[in-house]
Amino acid sequence: MKIPAPQHSGAVGVARPRLEAPDKVAGKARYAADAAVPGSAFGYVVTAPVARGRVRHIDSEAVRGMPGVVGVLDHRNAPRLNPEAGNFFGPDGSLRLLQDDAIPYAGRPVALVVAETFEQARTAAAALRIDYATATHDTGFAADHPSARPASTAFGPDAEIGDVEAELAASAVIVDERYRTPEQHGAAMEPHSATAWWEDGRLQVLDCNQGPFTMAMTLAVLLRLDPAQVRIRAEHVGGGFGSKSMLGPHLVLAAMATTVLDRPVRVTLTRAQVFQTVAMRPATEQRLRIGADTDGRLRALHHEAAFAGSPIAEYVENCPEPSKVLYAAPAIRTRLTTVPLDILPPYSVRGPGLTPGSFALESAMDEVAERLGMDPVDVRLRNEPAAGPVTGLPFRGRNLAACLHEGARRFAWHTRDHRPRRRREGGLLIGTGMAATCFSTGALPSSATITAETDGTYTVAIGASDIGTGARTALTAIAADALDVGPERIRLRIADSDLGLAWAAGGSRGTTSWAWAITMAAAELRAAAPATRPFTVSADTSEAFAALPYAERHAYSAVFTQVAVDPATGEIRVRRLLGVFAVGRIVNPLLARSQAVGGLITGLSTALHEDGTRDRVTGRNANPDFAGYHIAAHADVPGIEAHFVPDHDPDDPSGIKGIGEIGTVGTAAAIANAVWHATGTRQRTLPLRLDRVL
Ligand code: MOS
Repeated sequence: MKIPAPQHSGAVGVARPRLEAPDKVAGKARYAADAAVPGSAFGYVVTAPVARGRVRHIDSEAVRGMPGVVGVLDHRNAPRLNPEAGNFFGPDGSLRLLQDDAIPYAGRPVALVVAETFEQARTAAAALRIDYATATHDTGFAADHPSARPASTAFGPDAEIGDVEAELAASAVIVDERYRTPEQHGAAMEPHSATAWWEDGRLQVLDCNQGPFTMAMTLAVLLRLDPAQVRIRAEHVGGGFGSKSMLGPHLVLAAMATTVLDRPVRVTLTRAQVFQTVAMRPATEQRLRIGADTDGRLRALHHEAAFAGSPIAEYVENCPEPSKVLYAAPAIRTRLTTVPLDILPPYSVRGPGLTPGSFALESAMDEVAERLGMDPVDVRLRNEPAAGPVTGLPFRGRNLAACLHEGARRFAWHTRDHRPRRRREGGLLIGTGMAATCFSTGALPSSATITAETDGTYTVAIGASDIGTGARTALTAIAADALDVGPERIRLRIADSDLGLAWAAGGSRGTTSWAWAITMAAAELRAAAPATRPFTVSADTSEAFAALPYAERHAYSAVFTQVAVDPATGEIRVRRLLGVFAVGRIVNPLLARSQAVGGLITGLSTALHEDGTRDRVTGRNANPDFAGYHIAAHADVPGIEAHFVPDHDPDDPSGIKGIGEIGTVGTAAAIANAVWHATGTRQRTLPLRLDRVL
């Protein structure tokens, strides 16, 4: 399959730097906490130090007289919120702040101290005396925990195809292993901040989030407002990684405070508060049972996954997804379990489900190859399915094999001795490893408005969000091509809920969803061939989206890596990391490469470093900062190679699939497999810490 020629002006497919890059480098780009809203007061969040219990008393009177203090919000005076407000999975108790005295997890906001300056608010918050009644809590995650129950089927039911036990019994080799991954945090560079104020009967918010339209709709429900009364803007966002895909506590508290205090209020979280109050990826425990014949064909694939949850909000860490997509097998069974604990309700983080799920599946596949004495690439190629292994639906543009071939070629994989612990350099053990993966793609309903201006330019308005990935630049090229004009004639407006229905920068579906709406509006404008200007058209993809044929839609990748392990210290260094991606048509090769490389880096980060730990005695995050929660730094990152194979989504007007998260998801297994190849010891728990490798 070849990449189709650019449709119109040729703007798509050209490497262009980010449009806002000069503003960011010069410090001119305004982030949420830079907003200078006249008359703003500043809120400082007070969080509960206990993991379960209730607030007995808050001595707010004592701090009201402190310098600069404007007010104290707690469950006694906060506006009443709608308990039905929630997220993609249903009602979410983490949104219902300051409604009662209950404390469901450590870090729960229990008060907001508002003052003339941030420093005054912080000082008064530190002086606020709160009396807590504590109850016994349980934050210790285990798959066999007594509270374990089937997870929500929001992403579809568990798979049950064929007879797993019979196929296992007939298999030449069986792998049956358990894999563990810890809590992981989005860890965006920009801490969460929102400024809220009432203006002409509307609630105005300057926030940092991944989707102003979806946030505004949720906020309207939460505050029982008409959606037209809420406007949220998020012009520049310093990273999302899932952590800004939900209405954050900072925004909920700022909206309540401005309503009570009748002046603009900004709430900015500290770094520790981001870790404690913004949803993280839950810990997981997975079991993989795979049976295969001597020729490498799978007979049975059984993927069980449990993840930590919360009794106050549903969430699904959909770990078994790759086991439903990647390989053909006559018997496939998946089971997904949640374990409600006294923790902040988890939510999506960087490749939700697939990141821990691929670590488990692709580590187990490497063990299958080992037991068969086969090349791990060959084992994967041997099991290419003709249709969805569970659904039976056709694949639309499946190019995993191309990724595997191209990656193996570029990495010179065929020279590898597949036996472990064979290669040394001085005192170091050297190993190579690989993994395959997928990520579901598609578009979700969005709308766009285009105005043909009198000066020959086009104003393109869409409620998109640029979380640092270059969405503005990509959408400008899409609009230019669709209108058949140069990109310099496009004026793009994004990041404002007033621009109408738009999917968020999440689920690797932002560009796809927005591009579709822009393409549709552009086609309408060109068909109208307006004789007079300005002339405006709007388009909404809801119906086109609903008419899409049922099919398996995914992006694919293969990751290859070389590691060096020091057997004396347990130190692992990733020396080479190469990803080959089939992610649909590439809108901007420069931005696409950045996204893929960034994904590979965060994958490396989850493999080697990220380890959200919880003190079982207090139930609190034990490492809520970048000193304790290490994310990959420059010194951890080798030269990274990202390559794209020709790919095209046959159902997308622009041929786009989605590139947001797939870079992350295959990396940890590739690195763990390389560590096994270097050392001869399997690593089934993330991160691959020194003490685990020794
Ligand atoms: Mo992303 S973790 O889909 O916001």
